[in-house]
Amino acid sequence: MVMPPYSLKRMDKTKNSFFNHRKTFLYTGTSNNMKKYLTIIILGLICIFNLGCSQATSITDEQISPQTPPMGWNSWNHFKRKISAKLVKEIADGAKRHKLNEAGYKYLVIDDVWQADALNPDGTLAANPETFPDGIAPLAEYVRQCGFELGIYSSPNLFTCAGYPATLGFEEKHAKQFADWGCKFVKYDFCPNRNDEYHLSYETVIERYRVFGEALRSNDPDIIFAICEKGFAGKIRDRNRPKNPPVPPLDKRIRAFVWCKDVGGVMWRTTMDIKPTWEKIMQILDQQEGLEVLCGPGAFNDPDMLEVGNGDLTLTENRAHFSLWCVLNAPLMLGNDLRDIPKNVLKVITNKEVIALNQDPLCVQAKKVFDNGDIEIFTKPLFNGDIAVCVLNRGPARKNVTFSIEQIGLDSKTNYNARDLWRHKDLGQFQEKFKTSVRSHDITLLRISPINKTK
Ligand code: GLA
Repeated sequence: MVMPPYSLKRMDKTKNSFFNHRKTFLYTGTSNNMKKYLTIIILGLICIFNLGCSQATSITDEQISPQTPPMGWNSWNHFKRKISAKLVKEIADGAKRHKLNEAGYKYLVIDDVWQADALNPDGTLAANPETFPDGIAPLAEYVRQCGFELGIYSSPNLFTCAGYPATLGFEEKHAKQFADWGCKFVKYDFCPNRNDEYHLSYETVIERYRVFGEALRSNDPDIIFAICEKGFAGKIRDRNRPKNPPVPPLDKRIRAFVWCKDVGGVMWRTTMDIKPTWEKIMQILDQQEGLEVLCGPGAFNDPDMLEVGNGDLTLTENRAHFSLWCVLNAPLMLGNDLRDIPKNVLKVITNKEVIALNQDPLCVQAKKVFDNGDIEIFTKPLFNGDIAVCVLNRGPARKNVTFSIEQIGLDSKTNYNARDLWRHKDLGQFQEKFKTSVRSHDITLLRISPINKTK
């Protein structure tokens, strides 16, 4: 194997021959359509099975997976390029002081821009000597002492999304480095626009993720492999899809992410980057529709890191954003400044009753069951037979909402008790109709429990 030019500096596009070499090297994966379609059918069956069981009580312990959505923090949303070992230590101190581990948060992930400008002569990654002077291993240890685990970031390209040296061609070496440093979470982020890679085939992109996923697991079977590919491979596949005979119809969005679990991904980004605005959060919410079939124990659609506590989001917007990500079964990766968390934000991100919906062992992603424009209702079946109901008001004014059991797709012969998870209040029996008043950009979040008697 020809060894790459180690002197490659970040975003040095003049070294394209090396890139071409690495590309050929990675074309070894054969396309196996049969396997993919079987995977889709099996995922569908698993999902139907999960939904079917959700109202029953016959699930055995063996069927419960401990693999609920990963929870933690990531540096990108708030700090972007301004990260350093000093900052990560302060974040770990803040997370400890605010007892975020008790609420379930575990991974503190350094996103892009931790790297030096070039790989080491042997192809290994180096941390920026100014911002991470002692390297990554002591930082992982510090984070562990605070009660958390360190996570890190790289890309399956020559360059990361911010233009720093990445992992292409050095998958085994970098996976081993991350494991040796004690990292327990790796975000692997694909940006073709930084690497002139729009021409890569669906199979090649997937193969790159597979190679790295295998390398990661061979060093640490429990490491979280967080795929951040955003559906580029699916778009490539759509462009090249044979028209005659046509490939079997499969929802475009599902095809874009159906491979992620197969290559070892525990979570996969389903959208481009989030921003701390209500409009962006709603846009991302809409993009999750239809992807529910891909979600299950140890496998999660990732609508991006949380913006709770960032930008100008109001208290109601923060609460709605957090509630929606919880019922969507999304990974809960905080994106705010943990050194100093305002009381009202801390209350949102540590609401245990709401987090319990997210960490429910059934691992079902909520589905939209009602939509009349401003008002949308999502339901999520839970392991003990309860159902989470999230009533969202997207509109500019407060709305009174009335809905019946049938309107949210539940059995009208069953009686239900309702509990308000933000007011921490039992509301008594859910009568024929449920009435609530929801402020603009807010939610009503209920946990409803069937009472074992029929009407
Ligand atoms: C991409 C990802 C972001 C972040 C940046 C870092 O834009 O989608 O989440 O990781 O890269 O460069």
